[in-house]
Amino acid sequence: MKNKILEILKDNRDEFTSGEKISEELNITRAGVWKNISKLREEGYVIDSITKMGYKLISTADILSKEELGEYLSTEFIGKNIEYFSTINSTNQKAKEDAFNLEDGSVLIAEEQTGGRGRLGRQWISPDGKGIWMSIVLKPELDPYKVSKITLIGVVAVFNALKNIGIDSQIKWPNDILINGKKVGGILTEMSSELNMIDYIIMGIGINANLDKEDFPQDLKNKGTSLKIEIKREINRKELTAKILNELEKLYIEFKENGDIGEIIPILRENTITLGKEILVIRGKTERIGKAIDIDEQGELVVEFQSGRENIISGQVSIRTQNGYI
Ligand code: BTN
Repeated sequence: MKNKILEILKDNRDEFTSGEKISEELNITRAGVWKNISKLREEGYVIDSITKMGYKLISTADILSKEELGEYLSTEFIGKNIEYFSTINSTNQKAKEDAFNLEDGSVLIAEEQTGGRGRLGRQWISPDGKGIWMSIVLKPELDPYKVSKITLIGVVAVFNALKNIGIDSQIKWPNDILINGKKVGGILTEMSSELNMIDYIIMGIGINANLDKEDFPQDLKNKGTSLKIEIKREINRKELTAKILNELEKLYIEFKENGDIGEIIPILRENTITLGKEILVIRGKTERIGKAIDIDEQGELVVEFQSGRENIISGQVSIRTQNGYI
């Protein structure tokens, strides 16, 4: 009901709509209209009300609900089903629990995560209303071995969306987005599969949009940052979220057909700061130092080790900087 009232107010943004008109149109009492207007105000919508004239929407809320993302989304199926949470443990966790009942392209999005997770079991700071914390459920009919490539699709979708809103970033292969050498976003891809069939992929995307310096714990302060800190302006989260989903769908359609990511390789090669750098490759308990040479047509990282060249498909890769490995 609340969303229907919102729709009416949005359709009549330049004028007052009387409580009577809304109650007739939706077949609810005037008290019911009032109750729902109060709920919308609590969410952050600014709604003017004048006796005998009714209600007028002054500004929308800075929230990532289906209603608010709608006007920026131009996708066919990614985000057709959006599940919105003001707070949740982790959108990836919830997506995994519900994955079998969710259609391809479903998006779970939260204002706050109380147990946000990063790669390698790390914690992912996800304060209320300051970032983009979302998980996309994907169900391509592909061989499971092709799945590692999908993280690269996610990272390029974020990179392209940022570019689209005028923000230059760098990619740290395979799943990080950096600005000025510090991390502003990351992708956590999780999968459930049979031997030769994918049940589902959960692509978790975390973007530090409007976090302030105080939001980062001491140990992350020189590794993590936010778009707002780097660009020095508040980011429109709705626009950026929708643009990421728009980009993701374009790239995913191509991938879904045949598992091919040829289109994004030039973008990766040009914008991956890992290339040409000394890197540390950690696999289980083994750590090896090498030099990142190239990204091949499959999206694999070509690394020159002392023992010769090898292709890395996925895994933990850190780049050596003056402050140690990042
Ligand atoms: C990384 O370690 O770089 C990946 C971070 C992924 C964070 C996102 S936020 C939305 C989704 N839910 C989670 O718990 N994690 C991912």
